[in-house]
Formats: sequence, structure tokens, C-alpha cells
Amino acid sequence: MSAAALNARLAAEHPAAARCLSPLGARLYFPRGIPVQAKEAAACAYNATIGQLRGPDGHAAPLDALRRLVPALDADQSFLYAPQGGLPNLRDRWAARLAERASPGSAPLSRPFVTSGITHGLSLLADLFVGPGTEVLLPSPCWDNYAQVFGTRSGGILRSYSALSPEGFSVEGFAAAVGALRGPAVVVLNFPSNPGGYAPSAAEADQLVAVLTAHPGPLVVLCDDAYQGMVWDAERPPHSVMHRLAAVADPERLLVVSTDGATKELFYFGGRVGFVTAVLPGGGGAALEEKLTAAIRVSVSSVSGTAQAIVLAALDDLALLAQREALHADLAARWARLRDGLEAAGVPAWPFNAAFFALLPAPTDAEELRHAFLKDGLGLVSAAAGPNLRLSYASLQLDDIDPVVEILAKRLAR
Ligand SMILES: Cc1ncc(COP(=O)(O)O)c(C=O)c1O
Repeated sequence: MSAAALNARLAAEHPAAARCLSPLGARLYFPRGIPVQAKEAAACAYNATIGQLRGPDGHAAPLDALRRLVPALDADQSFLYAPQGGLPNLRDRWAARLAERASPGSAPLSRPFVTSGITHGLSLLADLFVGPGTEVLLPSPCWDNYAQVFGTRSGGILRSYSALSPEGFSVEGFAAAVGALRGPAVVVLNFPSNPGGYAPSAAEADQLVAVLTAHPGPLVVLCDDAYQGMVWDAERPPHSVMHRLAAVADPERLLVVSTDGATKELFYFGGRVGFVTAVLPGGGGAALEEKLTAAIRVSVSSVSGTAQAIVLAALDDLALLAQREALHADLAARWARLRDGLEAAGVPAWPFNAAFFALLPAPTDAEELRHAFLKDGLGLVSAAAGPNLRLSYASLQLDDIDPVVEILAKRLAR
């Protein structure tokens, strides 16, 4: 479909998404090139379309030096090109996972679209919806790469809302910042958060959703759900705000999209398997999928089949759940030890209850303090916003936590 025809279809299927397209997003279309022509010839007796080697049996013909390293994987999935959008079974498997978390009355979700890690998903969405001058509302503090993706790379105008208060999520600050947006604009939500390590209460999540649904739009609400399910305080909802938004989304005003992936959820950091999923209140979604397909074709073309085959096989492994739960229990134990240790030592911290992180207010320059802690033998990350210091307990052992708190207390205890 031409870009103009695709844009018209998107306007019919999802008006808010169509109105939010960046100049690049509006230009993108998936040409009827090699991938399309190869697919059309799939049933031919002689399919001489695609430039990839098949053996005498018509299947992948990997060199043994490579094949012996991944003997358990389906060789076709792992050694041939995966389609843009990802391995079909993997997409369906991830969709089933998301469906288990759906709120009552939720709008349908698109078939998850496989990306080369979550950062790539964010970049693809930035390609579609952020151009020079697009307002992008980011949490403060936030994962430092957002500024590069949405600002440096895509030319968006970065605005921020204060994501933390001593009581939890600052709904007032968020409401004021969203209220000041004149759509089209992009709002980024990240719960559990990096660097805050914070997941909202059910009441905070409801208030946040109410703020977004009251906006006249058009807005793209991007839920970066990298740490989905990692909420250590059992009182808090474990799942993404995306599911709450899916129950009230209005395609005239809001496009709700999520990025998530195997990176953190399966602790497969080096695998680079992420997903982009959209809420589609009116159904449809083909035009949005084609825009994403076009954006991936011009960036990485196709995501690693080997990594996708590994994730697919792992998701089908009945032992996976128990293995994940064991790691979650370990992380929750580190979290509880750190929370109690900081409190006992009088070291102030922003409220933290999820993901991998604790954020500590820096009484002086965060960068200077970081260097001072390096001399004490403790590596932390400094965040200019605040200023704050981020501690990742994911990379500490449980037994490291008490000595780390002791080091922290020498410089930060009040
Ligand atoms: C909030 C958040 N989003 C996205 C990412 C990037 O994930 P990936 O490594 O899959 O690109 C991270 C990684 O640290 C993150 O913390």
C-alpha cells in the first residue's frame, strides 16, 4: 500500500494514531519488495525469490560449527530470516501472556510485534510518532536513554513530569504536565520505573488513567513495561497501566502502546528480544502494523531468529515459571533487606517497591558523591535530576547488602 493509502486507512482505523504521525511516520510504507514477493511465492514448487541458502531438503542448511551450538532449537527458525514482525508462534505466545493480564472490559490488543530489544521498540515508535518539534512528556527522573531516543535522535521537544514524591507517585504534577500538552504529543509512562524502582498503587494508577483519558488528545501514551511483573510489594498491582488504559481507551484521542520484552522479564539481557503492542479499541490495526513493518525493514530489517527461537522455546518450557519465581523471590529478598537496612541506618530513599533499583537523594552534587563512593569501593549511578544516586540491587548479592548500607550510611545518613 502507498504511504497515502496507508495513512488514509490508519485515519479510519485509529484517528488518534493517524493524527500523531511524525513526518517520517507519515512517509513510511512497506514496499512490495523482496519479503512480500517471497511470501507470495511460498507455495510455489520453485521459490527462487529470497537470498538465503536452503539445503537439498528445502530447510535451513547451517554450518555445523554454528548448528552444534544450538542443537535444541528449530533450525529453520533459528537460521533462516524471521519475518518482519517476528516469528508467528512467538508473537502468539507473547499475546497469550498479555491476555492473561488483561483488565475486565479491555479493548483488544494488537499482535505483539517483535523488536530487537526494548530500546529498538522505543526507537521504532519514536520514528512513527516523534519528529522535530513533537512534545514528548517524560518522567523525571527517567531512564537516561529516553532523552537520546526521543530528543537527540528524533528531534522531539522534551518536557518532564515529576515521577516521585515522598508519598509515592505525584499525580498532581503529572496532571499539570499532561494538561499543558497540546496534542499531538507523546506521554511516556514507565512502571515499574527505572531509576525509581517504583510501581504505583491501584489508586495512583486509576488517577493517572483518569488524567490521560480526560485529555482532548491526540496523544500517544507509551507504556514502557520493561520491568513488568517485578513488583515486590504484594499490595500493589503487578501489571502494566496499559491494561487499565485498555479498558477506557478512545481511538479518537489516545493511542496506547506498550514496549516490553524478554530482556528483563526472562532475564535474557543479551538476547535482544522486545515487543511493541498497541491497544486497538476499534479492532483493525493492520495499518499500524504495516507502518511498524516498514520502520523495522529500514532499521534492522529482521530480528535475530536464533534469539527469537530461544525465547519461544523457553516460553513453552513448563519449568520456566518456577525458575522465574525463584529469581523473583531472590530479588524480593534483596529489596526487603535493602529497604529495612536503609531505614535502620537512617539513609533517606525515595519510595521503592519494584524492579531492580533504589533511588537515594544526593545531599550534594551527585557526580561528586558518585566519585567519593567509588573510592569507598561502591559503584552507583548519578542522576542529575534530583540530584539522586541510583543503586541497582539486581547486581548485588543478598549478603552484599548490609556492607553496602554501611558504606552508604557514612556519607548519606541523616
Ligand atoms: C525502563 C527501561 N526501558 C528500556 C530499557 C532497554 O531495554 P533493552 O535492553 O531491551 O533495550 C531499559 C534497560 O535498562 C529500561 O530500564
